[in-house]
Amino acid sequence: MSIPEYIELEGGDRLPRIGFGTWQASDEVLEKAVDAALEAGYRHFDTARAYENEAALGRALNRWIGGDPARRKQLFVVTKLPPGGNRPELVQEYFDASLRDLNLDYVDLYLIHTPFAFEHVPGDLHPKNPDGSMKVDHTTNLLELWKTVLKLKESGRVRHVGVSNLNAEQLARVCGVARPACLQVEVHALCQQPDLLAAATKLGVPLVAYSPLGSKALADALAAKTGREYPDLLQLPVVARIAQAHGRTPAQVLLRHTLQRGLAAIPKSTNPARIKQNISLWDFELSEKEMSELAALDRGEAGRICDFAFFIGIDKHPEFPFKK
Ligand SMILES: NC(=O)c1ccc[n+]([C@@H]2O[C@H](COP(=O)([O-])OP(=O)(O)OC[C@H]3O[C@@H](n4cnc5c(N)ncnc54)[C@H](OP(=O)(O)O)[C@@H]3O)[C@@H](O)[C@H]2O)c1
Repeated sequence: MSIPEYIELEGGDRLPRIGFGTWQASDEVLEKAVDAALEAGYRHFDTARAYENEAALGRALNRWIGGDPARRKQLFVVTKLPPGGNRPELVQEYFDASLRDLNLDYVDLYLIHTPFAFEHVPGDLHPKNPDGSMKVDHTTNLLELWKTVLKLKESGRVRHVGVSNLNAEQLARVCGVARPACLQVEVHALCQQPDLLAAATKLGVPLVAYSPLGSKALADALAAKTGREYPDLLQLPVVARIAQAHGRTPAQVLLRHTLQRGLAAIPKSTNPARIKQNISLWDFELSEKEMSELAALDRGEAGRICDFAFFIGIDKHPEFPFKK
């Protein structure tokens, strides 16, 4: 089965179905990783205001662009409005700051990072109360926010807008205003989100899988804090067996599974060999039986890693998307 390397967007733009994740890397490490990713053929780069690394990503991308508009056109750069900016009157300010730090004339895709919101505290993207809980803004109007984000396209400084971490009901609601270019959510072998995928497909919204390899750094940090066990996706016996049968790595099997389900994926790595591996996915195919074996690994809601419980008190926000 040959599968497309791009998702077609409005206006003839194309979203490369393997992108490069950038969360949780120091600036210096990230710049080197982005150099390696560009060398390996990645053209889709995913960041967020909340990752506090837009300037480092921008430096590496601009080195590669070298002032050549034709090179800039080959890239697909994504960033996100942070939860502290989830009010219509703040959108422009946060968007301008992202573009300034990236040092780009435009971004290809701008996402609402989360449907829930923090209070806007200048200089603090994750504002907390003295007891460690988040300063939550409970007054979010998701549809007014979405309408304001849509208006950013009029400036020509963002080509597409979309959403992240919305549930199916929220996605349908924003689609009532205008269809987002994509929905970026956690999807991997243990959290396959078949219902959300079906709902998004019906609405004509492509899904982009974040943490497609199980976000080991986050899982390890959460395990240390909560005592909960997070299985290592890359060590699952089914995945290892299928990988061996194809002469591929477990990561390649997990990513190919995601692609064959029709999603895009944005794996993160800072290791040049793994960076290369994660985009070398187009010359092998999982059989129907292997796809079914991988489908059987799904644990539904219990497989979710990034449940935002680390933002203490956020589950009380009226737009908190996940139900236990
Ligand atoms: N919208 C959102 O709310 C949201 C939330 C989370 C993530 N994201 C985005 O999605 C991206 C990816 O998710 P993620 O960073 O959470 O996790 P991930 O891509 O699932 O996993 C990254 C981890 O896997 C390791 N790894 C990567 N390739 C590997 C390979 N071939 N073999 C073995 N290990 C490998 C990496 O280590 P090395 O670096 O050492 O290779 C790193 O520890 C993020 O970077 C971010 O851009 C978005």
